[in-house]
Amino acid sequence: MKILVTGSAGFICGYLVEELLQCGHTVVGIDNYSKYGQVKKSYDANPNYEFHQVDAKDVTLMKELASDC
Ligand SMILES: NC(=O)c1ccc[n+]([C@@H]2O[C@H](COP(=O)([O-])OP(=O)(O)OC[C@H]3O[C@@H](n4cnc5c(N)ncnc54)[C@H](O)[C@@H]3O)[C@@H](O)[C@H]2O)c1
Repeated sequence: MKILVTGSAGFICGYLVEELLQCGHTVVGIDNYSKYGQVKKSYDANPNYEFHQVDAKDVTLMKELASDC
């Protein structure tokens, strides 16, 4: 599946994204880096991971990103 994860650079979703990728899913991660600043994650370079530094309150953009998830 292709799964949209908000807060993907955060504490809980850091583990969630890793798990989803290990299970063979494609992940679209959303984070505005407001909590910890720009953090590096082990899965940043994973070809099945697509990251967007955006605000999850942007409804138009969220609808667009979620459309094929
Ligand atoms: N070492 C530890 O045990 C540890 C460390 C950190 C957190 N925690 C705990 O984990 C829990 C919190 O974890 P979490 O993952 O729910 O929260 P989090 O704050 O770690 O992650 C939320 C993520 O969402 C992002 N975000 C916030 N608003 C956004 C917006 N409008 N658009 C896009 N991105 C946005 C933030 O930048 C952040 O990366 C708390 O209970 C905390 O105490 C524990």
